[in-house]
Parts: sequence; structure tokens; C-alpha cells
Amino acid sequence: MPTDFLTLVRRDHVDLQKELTQLLDPTTPVAELRQSLDGVRLGLTAHAEAEDIVLGRFDTIAALEIQVAQARAAHLAQEGALASLVSSPPGSRTWRDCAYHLRELVGYHAAQEETYLLPALRRVAPRLYDGMAGAFATERLRQLAMLQPSAPICVIDLDALVMGRAARVS
Ligand SMILES: [Fe+2]
Ligand SMILES: [Fe+2]
Repeated sequence: MPTDFLTLVRRDHVDLQKELTQLLDPTTPVAELRQSLDGVRLGLTAHAEAEDIVLGRFDTIAALEIQVAQARAAHLAQEGALASLVSSPPGSRTWRDCAYHLRELVGYHAAQEETYLLPALRRVAPRLYDGMAGAFATERLRQLAMLQPSAPICVIDLDALVMGRAARVS
């Protein structure tokens, strides 16, 4: 049986909430916080962009207009909270407040989509819904491929890169 759209979306929601919870662990070293934050940034951006794009398939269905608009508004709110988190000093009080706020938004967003939006899409437009898992998975991968990681490069990796280049030049 093919993977359902809800299964894919739920998996992202669970992963994001786990990663955001890790960001709130006061024992995590700052270097790890930066890497975890990059994972959250990439994961959340690809998820929200992919959802926005595939939800466009339902734009002409009046019965779904409000719920689709609410989903898009939730993505904008998360984008704003993510921007605040990314621009805060890792581990600071502001950082923790931003991470907590973003986790709240993601949790609310997940409950809304899983409980109301996706069941409504399936009920109102079952044939369109059937193609959503494949479309979402493809779009999510495409979005991830376009995003640039911003976590610092490990010095050992950088050394290996420079040595590799030097070996090829000589
Ligand atoms: Fe979502
Ligand atoms: Fe969403």
C-alpha cells in the first residue's frame, strides 16, 4: 500500500518537534545547538514550502479555501519565529524563548493539519488527495536540494578538502 500524505506530513511534524526539544536542552553545547538549528531550519523550510506548493492544487475549491489559507498563515508565522530564532545568540534567554515559541507553533500547526486540514482535503477532493503523497515527497526533496546548509564546516573536513585540492593540482 503506498505511503499516505498524512503519514509523510506527520513524520516531518514529529521530527521537527523532537529537534526543537533538543534545542531547548540546557546541557547541549553551543556548537551542537548551531548544527541542530540548521537541521530545524532546513527541515521546517522544506516542509512548509512543499506543503504550500502542493496545497495549491486545492486553491480553486471554495469549500477548502479557509483551511488552506489558515495553513499558509501558519507557515508564515513559523517562518517569522524561525527568523527570530536564527538571529538570536545560541543558548541565550532570547534563543530559548524563540525556540519554545517555534515549538508551540509547530505543535499547533501539526494538530491542525493532522486533525482538520488533511481529513478535509481527503473528504472534499479524494482523487486530488490520492496524488498528494508523491507530490509532497517530490517537492520536499526538491526544496531540500535548493537549500544551503549554514552550519560551520568542521576544520578536519576543511583540511581534507584543501589537501585533496592540493593533491589534484600537484
Ligand atoms: Fe505541516
Ligand atoms: Fe503546514
